[in-house]
Amino acid sequence: MTGQPTPPRAALVLLAAGSGSRTGHSTNKVFLSLAGRRVFVWTLDATAADPGIGPVVLVVRADEVDAAHAVLAREAPGRDVRVVVGGASRHASEWSAVQALLPMIEQGEVDVVVVHDAARPLSGPTLFRQIVEAARAHGGAVPGRRQSVLLDRAGLSVRDGEAVGVQTPQAFVAPVLVEAYRAAAQAGFEGSDTAASVERFAPDVTIQNVPGTSTNIKITYAEDLFLAEALLARVSFDLRRLGTASSGGGG
Ligand code: CTP
Ligand code: MG
Repeated sequence: MTGQPTPPRAALVLLAAGSGSRTGHSTNKVFLSLAGRRVFVWTLDATAADPGIGPVVLVVRADEVDAAHAVLAREAPGRDVRVVVGGASRHASEWSAVQALLPMIEQGEVDVVVVHDAARPLSGPTLFRQIVEAARAHGGAVPGRRQSVLLDRAGLSVRDGEAVGVQTPQAFVAPVLVEAYRAAAQAGFEGSDTAASVERFAPDVTIQNVPGTSTNIKITYAEDLFLAEALLARVSFDLRRLGTASSGGGG
């Protein structure tokens, strides 16, 4: 079996270059402590045991590059993570990551790109696997959950029960993503999420909806940290009960 070419893998982009202003903390929320580790380390850990996830790009602010390296060395020592500098918007940070991955995409080492908010530490390995599989099969995949009520910007209720809350991770076949982001750069377009740019510049690509989970929360406000901590405690309790928890815990 020697000499077999390695099958292409999915690259993971973790977006951490925001400021977390809505938490009210002066520290960027992805660097806050959650159950003893930094938020983004929990996020990274969801894919730790997945052999289908290959290169990882962590996108951070220019003034947090050193801090990111220090946290990775301490809390995720076995993980090969490339740290790149993001931009002023989420979209600009995605574009930095796509450019960093270009050589590997062009060489066929990466066939799918998974883009994920580092501020979602509870996505879990199953959702990643489902999203990557669906993107490979259809072209793109996003997790969505039906919302009972959503408010639009004016505070008016939109059709009850019909709105879908879109989450991350979102995955796309790599060349589709590259072309969409090149076109977006040329047009000066900034999407609010990855799917927005693909929908706009690669409208023929099918974006499959994969059921999101209720626990896949994004840390947005300070109280979300308490909720995440309670959910993490619950998850590790369930794992212990099932006898599947590893004693190491990865740091
Ligand atoms: N993000 C990014 N680059 C930016 C802005 C946001 O990489 N210029 C990342 C954040 O770090 C976060 C994710 O995109 O993981 C989702 O964005 P959001 O929840 O809005 O985070 P922040 O912009 O950091 O928070 P806030 O809007 O409250 O300031
Ligand atoms: Mg923001």
